[in-house]
Amino acid sequence: MHRTNFVITSISIGVLSFVSLGLTPFAKAVGEMPSKEVCAQQNNSAVVTGGCTATDKRKGNCMACHKFKGLKQARLQPGTIAPPLIAMKARFPDRKKLRTLIWDAAEFNPRSNMPPFGRHKILSEQEIDLIVEWLYSL
Ligand code: HEC
Repeated sequence: MHRTNFVITSISIGVLSFVSLGLTPFAKAVGEMPSKEVCAQQNNSAVVTGGCTATDKRKGNCMACHKFKGLKQARLQPGTIAPPLIAMKARFPDRKKLRTLIWDAAEFNPRSNMPPFGRHKILSEQEIDLIVEWLYSL
């Protein structure tokens, strides 16, 4: 084989396996735990912006208590005191109920340890809406 062809073929195989293994920087962008680089970008989708707010230590900090997809790749040790955030659409088909749970979990469990993000104004109404979008991607 011609040397140039060989080099081009090897590069293509390399790129293809990188993509197929889900190692592209873009693969992490949807749902899960968006990277710092992704969160720093402008014009992210609602799901990604919600994920960035949920995983910001000064905002949602949901990983302090909950486990969800993508934490391992981010080398974060998730909290285990709360149920894992998984299959949210199937388990919480009622969006209003899910939103209320984030706004103030005490509505459902008066002794909840979960911070009342809305009632205590830890998060804005819009931030809570975006987090609900993100939750539905988990
Ligand atoms: C300080 C710990 C803590 C933090 C931080 C926290 N939660 Fe929770 N969460 C809990 C606990 C404990 C429960 C279990 C139910 C209860 O006690 O209210 C819960 C329950 C939930 C549930 C219901 C899960 C189920 O399967 O029933 C959802 C959804 C949820 N949290 C979302 C979030 C989101 C989104 C964030 C971040 C914005 C967050 N939580 C931050 C402690 C926390």
